[in-house]
Amino acid sequence: MDAGLKQMNGELERKGSLTSSYLEEPLNKSGVVSCIFSMKEEVGALVKALKLFEEKGINLTHIESRPSRKNKKEYEFFISVDQASCKSMEEVVDSLRTQISGQIHELSRNKQKDTVPWFPNVIQDVDRFANQILSYGSELDADHPGFTDPVYRARRKEFADIAYNYRHGQIIPQVEYTAEEKATWGMVFKELKTLYPTHACREHNRVFPLLEKYCGYREDNIPQLEDISRYLQSSTGFRLRPVAGLLSSRDFLAGLAFRVFHSTQYIRHNSKPMYTPEPDICHELLGHVPLFADPSFAQFSQEIGIASLGAPDEFIEKLATVYWFTVEFGLCKQGNEVKAYGAGLLSSYGELKYCLTDKPKLQPFDPEKTYLQKYPITEFQPVYFVAESFEDAKEKVRKFAATIPRPFTVHYNPYTQSIEVLDNTQQLKDLADSISGEISILCNALRKME
Ligand SMILES: [Fe+2]
Repeated sequence: MDAGLKQMNGELERKGSLTSSYLEEPLNKSGVVSCIFSMKEEVGALVKALKLFEEKGINLTHIESRPSRKNKKEYEFFISVDQASCKSMEEVVDSLRTQISGQIHELSRNKQKDTVPWFPNVIQDVDRFANQILSYGSELDADHPGFTDPVYRARRKEFADIAYNYRHGQIIPQVEYTAEEKATWGMVFKELKTLYPTHACREHNRVFPLLEKYCGYREDNIPQLEDISRYLQSSTGFRLRPVAGLLSSRDFLAGLAFRVFHSTQYIRHNSKPMYTPEPDICHELLGHVPLFADPSFAQFSQEIGIASLGAPDEFIEKLATVYWFTVEFGLCKQGNEVKAYGAGLLSSYGELKYCLTDKPKLQPFDPEKTYLQKYPITEFQPVYFVAESFEDAKEKVRKFAATIPRPFTVHYNPYTQSIEVLDNTQQLKDLADSISGEISILCNALRKME
């Protein structure tokens, strides 16, 4: 078995599924195209398939077989062909599709490689991009409040190293925060808490006392990411992952698809406790975390993430803008009032007060219009978008996501924490079975309530 195939089988073993593997980076050496197809176990079937390659003058460089993991009556074949001889590969693939009864997965056709950007298939794949950050630890901009403070910069490097060495499944290391850091947190915590009852959405206000009760949210204590991550996992399946710096929009959104939120662990500089030019632990814990504990909002966030997988760059930019005006700076209607649910608002005393005055312009949330809106990063937003409700926002994002040009549909499997590319009838049947089981539970419950 060649090294490439060993690697591929390792990948497949880990995923336990063939279906999502064709979007992996090519495992083949350049100049080689590969595919997997499955066929019913019957005499002469393989000869028939190979004949198709022969007829088109395609040179097979590697062939391997194994029993199918999905269907015991089928065999899977992995083949590699010499790219120089495969001009007619498309025709052969089409012939395979029509003439064999199984499935076919192309592993490395250039057409797909060029049009579908790589995306993580399983939650462990987040490890592959979590350290692809735009800046690292102590690398601060000249206008950062901590730029000239060597102690602060050294501390930032400590936090960055924790994140850099973190791998999925590990316990997030506890941090002993200094008295100075706790004092900064305390000031932010105290001020914001006075505004939440009147300015924050009801979901935030429902969860906040639970975080005080179970996760150590107190004025004199900076809660630990591991405690919060465990709490979130038990409430919505969301989890935190420490991050060493800013991720690209594509990578950050991809994390959300797996209900993974990349969270900073450091705190802002103590010289400006009410200001930070970047996300810090106050922003993550006071702004984001309470909403990720709400089932409807968690699903909304994940759907933005799933919509981003394999999307073209221009749509990533549109989704990132939608994310900005919802998860970061969103407002929503609650009864006759408008409340804040965006983390950028819920973690900024000044902007939380400002956003509900008559100074900013409010517009109805509509992804098709929202993604066109330009926005400043270091000052209060001049425009906010108001959602009718999380459910309504979710529905609108779903409709918008359906317009993203992708040659496939993906589905998140919470049991395996993996993304399934729905591209064959067996998967659709499996999904239908699963939904049917859920509907049956729902019907039973409704009958019992009657
Ligand atoms: Fe944020």
